[in-house]
Parts: sequence; structure tokens; C-alpha cells
Amino acid sequence: MDAILVRGGRPLNGQITIAGAKNAALALMPATLLSDEPLTLTNAPRLSDVRTMTTLLRSLGAEVQTLQDGKVLALSSHTLTSTRADYDIVRKMRASNLVLGPLLARAHRAVVSLPGGCAIGARPMDIHVSALEAMGAEIDLKDGYLHANAPGGLKGARVKLRFASVGATENTLMAATLARGTTLIENAAREPEIVDLADCLRAMGAQISGDGTSTIEIQGVARLHAASHRVVADRIELGTYMLAPAIAGGEVECIGGRIHLVEAFVERLDAAGVSVEETAKGLKVARKNGRPHAVDVVTAPYPGFPTDLQAQMMAMLCTAEGQSRLEERIFENRFMHAPELLRMGASLDVQGGVATVRGVDRLKGAPVMATDLRASVSLILAGLAAEGETRVNRVYHLDRGYEQVEAKLGAVGADIERVSDA
Ligand code: EPU
Repeated sequence: MDAILVRGGRPLNGQITIAGAKNAALALMPATLLSDEPLTLTNAPRLSDVRTMTTLLRSLGAEVQTLQDGKVLALSSHTLTSTRADYDIVRKMRASNLVLGPLLARAHRAVVSLPGGCAIGARPMDIHVSALEAMGAEIDLKDGYLHANAPGGLKGARVKLRFASVGATENTLMAATLARGTTLIENAAREPEIVDLADCLRAMGAQISGDGTSTIEIQGVARLHAASHRVVADRIELGTYMLAPAIAGGEVECIGGRIHLVEAFVERLDAAGVSVEETAKGLKVARKNGRPHAVDVVTAPYPGFPTDLQAQMMAMLCTAEGQSRLEERIFENRFMHAPELLRMGASLDVQGGVATVRGVDRLKGAPVMATDLRASVSLILAGLAAEGETRVNRVYHLDRGYEQVEAKLGAVGADIERVSDA
């Protein structure tokens, strides 16, 4: 397996282009299952998670062609040959469960493996299941698989989610596009990826309103048709690269970034003494004066501070002036980066869902490893400011969600390379 070597201490200057959003693409791709006509996605990110979703869709009979070096995905589900999402694929990527809603809507049945243990917490599927049951599906758990049936098709319903789950909102939204009658999703997730999915479904002929708010209304239609859709910018990749100059110094412009995607995050950066300026092409980020200051962070569903930026923010706060408090409220086990940051000389402790970070002048390079995508990239960010060499092992996790991290950071002056593990 590859590793990334970072030698810290260089300020970063220049531009980084932000790719299409992984978490939007992983919901948009299964939308192909809703129609027998083609769906084209442009601005697709080139990531191993997208390849995993490709494998899954192909196993169901969909055709997936990658064009323009992977930036365009031409999908077609003219004929479905299977309605079963196998454990071997689902265990690799939880987002595989996003085929459940579309399969039920189109084929009136689906067999989808439960994702099982996940590095960042239990992540059950109960909210997805209750929502689809409210729409008339019968769902049983057998042999680790959810067996879902909707003889005669799904029916529109009033669905109140007990928590604003992103995935459950996406599954319900997709399912409702072909259901008979009107569906109201209450306490819906409001993430930009939900709005992006709704935009794509509307382009396919779905009737949806209220996306981006807590109540989404969907009038079911008989069929969806061909469409082309551009994947929204990845706000988590954006936030990650915005932290690079905040940590290492210099000034970086993130091309394609917009404030509205990362408002709560930008507010915390501002409080920490990092300036963010919206330009014609993106967001320009630099420290206001020297070292950032400590700030407190509480993760929350959108529009709150994203859990997917908590680890990266912690990397910055490790060298900020003062003591910060980070509270993780979305996942029960999302501090895997903390012990690795300790190995780099950070001063912090974790109690339950709260991490307390006391900023130190300088981190020190070390071999580190993390078992989650965002934790891994936080260690690269920490390495940018650390004295000496940081070796981030198990790059497999990074490649799930960051395309060419070493090329993007290298282009703005980071001393970073990918090496093959002996
Ligand atoms: N939850 C339940 N039951 C459910 C569904 C969720 O209890 O049926 C709980 C989860 O265990 C978790 C919380 O609700 O504690 C949030 O889960 P949610 O369903 O909102 O998350 P998700 O759809 O599984 C997506 C992103 C994650 C991101 C979360 C939260 C995708 C493919 N994944 O996951 O992204 O952290 O929303 O914003 O969209 C990442 O990209 O690194 C990543 C983990």
C-alpha cells in the first residue's frame, strides 16, 4: 500500500482546483437506477469510492462509462439484471446503501446488505428503513441483508425522520420520485448534496420542492427521463485545502469554492484569525497575523460545522495559540486522528465526544496512520506544519475521497510525495 511523505515548514502559495463532491456523486450515481434512459454526470470526482459505486451499479445491470479521464460518467440503467447489493461491495463503502430507495422505486424490491462495522461509529440503517416502510415497503432483516419489497409500488406518505440523516433523506427522496402520490419528508437533511441530488432529479423530470429546507415535498411521477447534471463542488475538499495555508502559512486560492457551501466553517476560521475572501474564481485564504488562535467547534448537521471537517480543523488547532474544545455530535467515534496527532507532539485529550486541544508552537514529523478518510487527510495537514518528515501510511483511505492530494498540495509548494510501501 502507498504512503504519503510530507516534509513540513514550507508556506503554500497558489491555486488549488476543487473537484466535484464525493458525497454528491455517490448519491447522484444511484439515481440512474430510477430511469431506463441515460444519465450523464459531469465534474465527477476521480475517487476510489466512485469506482466502488461503479462496480455496484454494474453488478445490478447498469452501464457505467467513464469519459474525459473519469470527469464525466455516462450511466444507463436501461435494463436491470439484479436487485441485490452484495455484502462484498457494501462492506467497503456505506454509501452503497443508496441503491435501496431507487431499486425499490423502480423494481419494487431490493436486497441490500447492512454495512456492518464502520470505523467512525455504528451507523445503523433504521431511519432509512422506517422512511421506506412509511411509504408501503415491507422490509425484513435476513442473513445480514435487508430484504425490501413493495408489491404494487411505493406510495407517497408523510415521513418524519427521527434525525436529519443525509443518506436516509437521499434514499427517501429518490424513492418518492416514482411513488404514487405526494411524499413529505420532515426533518430532512439540508446539506448542499441533497439540493444537488434534487436538482439532478428535477432535470430527470421529478417534481420536488423544499430541498435545502427541513421539509421536502415530492409529487410522484410515472417515469423519469434522460438528463445531464454537473456535480456540485466538494465542500469538504474545499474546507480541507482552505486549512492548508491556515496551518502552513502563505495564501491559497481554492478555485470553484463558494462561501455558501462552507459558511459555518468560514465563521470559525475567521474567529481563529484566518481570512477568507471570495474572488471571481473561488475563495482566497491566508492567516491574518501569524499563528491562528484557539476556537471552539461543535459539529452539527448542515448548516452547522461539518463533522467531515472536524479532524482537519483539529490539525490546525494543534498549533493555534490557546486551548480549543471540539465536540463531535454526529458520530460517536470520530477522533481516530487524536492519538496520531499526539505522536506528532500535539497536546490534547479526548473524553467521550469532546476533545480538548492545547496549541503547541510546533508539531514534529512522525510515521502515522488512520483508519478513516478525514482522519488521514488531517495528518497530512498536520505534517505541512510539522518539523521534519511525516509519513502517512494506509493511503488507501485518502484515495477514497481526495483526488491527487500530493499533486494538488505539491503545486502550491508543499514538499509532499507518494511512495510505495516496502
Ligand atoms: N444514523 C442512524 N440511523 C440511520 C442513519 C444514520 O442512527 O438510519 C446516524 C448515524 O449513525 C450517524 C448519524 O445518524 O451517527 C449521521 O448519519 P447520516 O445518515 O447523516 O450520514 P451518512 O448519510 O451515512 C453522510 C456522508 C458522511 C458524512 C455524514 C454526515 C455520504 C456518502 N456520506 O453519511 O461522509 O459524515 O453524511 O454529514 O454522503 C465522509 O465523506 O468522510 C463521510 C463519512
